[in-house]
Amino acid sequence: MRLTPGAGRDVDLGRVDLFDLDLYTSGDPHVIWDVMRAEAPLHHQILPDGREFWSVTRYDDVCRVLGDHQAFTSERGTVVTHLGEDDVAAGKLMTSTDPPRHTQVRRAIGTKLTVRAVASWQDRIRRAVVRFLESALDGGTWDLAEQVQRLPMIVAGPLLGIPERDWDELVELTAMVTAPSDPHYHQGSRAATLAIAHHELVTYVTQWVERRRAAGVEDGSLLDHLMGVRVADAPLTDEEIAYDGYSLLLGANVTTPHTVSGTVLALVEQPEQFEMARADLSLVPSLVEEGLRWTSAACNFMRYARNGTAIGGGTVPPGAAVVAWIGSANRDESRFADPHRFDITRRENSHVAFGFGPHYCIGAPLARTTLRIFFEELFQRIGAIDLAGEPQHLRSCFIAGMTHLPIVAQKRLRP
Ligand code: HEM
Repeated sequence: MRLTPGAGRDVDLGRVDLFDLDLYTSGDPHVIWDVMRAEAPLHHQILPDGREFWSVTRYDDVCRVLGDHQAFTSERGTVVTHLGEDDVAAGKLMTSTDPPRHTQVRRAIGTKLTVRAVASWQDRIRRAVVRFLESALDGGTWDLAEQVQRLPMIVAGPLLGIPERDWDELVELTAMVTAPSDPHYHQGSRAATLAIAHHELVTYVTQWVERRRAAGVEDGSLLDHLMGVRVADAPLTDEEIAYDGYSLLLGANVTTPHTVSGTVLALVEQPEQFEMARADLSLVPSLVEEGLRWTSAACNFMRYARNGTAIGGGTVPPGAAVVAWIGSANRDESRFADPHRFDITRRENSHVAFGFGPHYCIGAPLARTTLRIFFEELFQRIGAIDLAGEPQHLRSCFIAGMTHLPIVAQKRLRP
């Protein structure tokens, strides 16, 4: 998805199609969201097949939809690619569960993903990042977007307990789930791609659990932890373990790489920001936050209204699907000064790239640590980055990302 909007132009809100995938590969969604925030903060769209959804684009409304589980449930699905389909994992997968059950499950699973737990993995993460970056330094053209897809598995694979031989296949499968229409991942049809990937991922975790049980040894990994979690004095069911393992894999794999690509492209487009961060590594944490806001890799999440609910200056009917556009909220001018400017020194940056409320990203400490270490190591090794071709954007209205970002990275001459 284009992250720096082009010149403003007339937008006919009656004809806007937020499910048109061309918008995300070659269009300019930010120009449309700007107009929606100003003129139609609650927007209704009916798809040609009759499915319909409401959109909220303002920061406060996005927080309300994501955060108010009494009004907006997660139990009928939260991902736009499943609009109108009943979620088979409802009430079993943490993401598709409302409080109070959600709170209990999340608390139990989350003990392994706290800031403190992640801090203890820092050295391992740094070694993994260094290993990854070394391959970029041969002076040739490097397709960052393609290569960086492996980064989460290199970092989180050992933490999850997943052997290296399986990493590439899992990266491919998780990409298929999030962008089933992208030609890089498409297998037959969109529906077939989704079905194959879901099935393979759930089967992978199920078989992992069976093997671990048969071996009878614990390895302290995250998947192991899922097997030992107790909620209201009972273990998770095998189905819950499979779904939550799948969800952790998905969460880890599909967002961090696109945040890296989006941030690097912004730095290439604004070399003075690159220089500033390179000269002062204490700016890396705020660079990471700005990169998260700027990229908003999880472009939206969905909820269903339980009852007729007033929001965004209008009312959605009972049962309505409401899409909270995180990418738009993170450019809301009422919240962020000069929102379409990438600014690594931004002070007020309470972005919602990790969501808001009870489902706030459980992997945020891991993602933040990975991104911080990635950029610290990058700036210590690389003196300049040039584009070596046109970026290619992911064909998805759910994940804002790139499939190709060819760059040439020049080694830093002096420390
Ligand atoms: C830059 C990286 C990341 C971004 C932008 C991101 C974004 C998000 C967002 C917006 C949500 C909220 C979903 C909702 O409201 O329904 C979420 C939830 C979640 N994320 Fe992340 N995520 C990232 C990294 C990760 C990582 C590394 C993991 C795995 C370790 C992960 C696992 C999850 C899980 C399991 C949930 C569901 C939490 C719940 O339902 O309570 N994410 N993420």
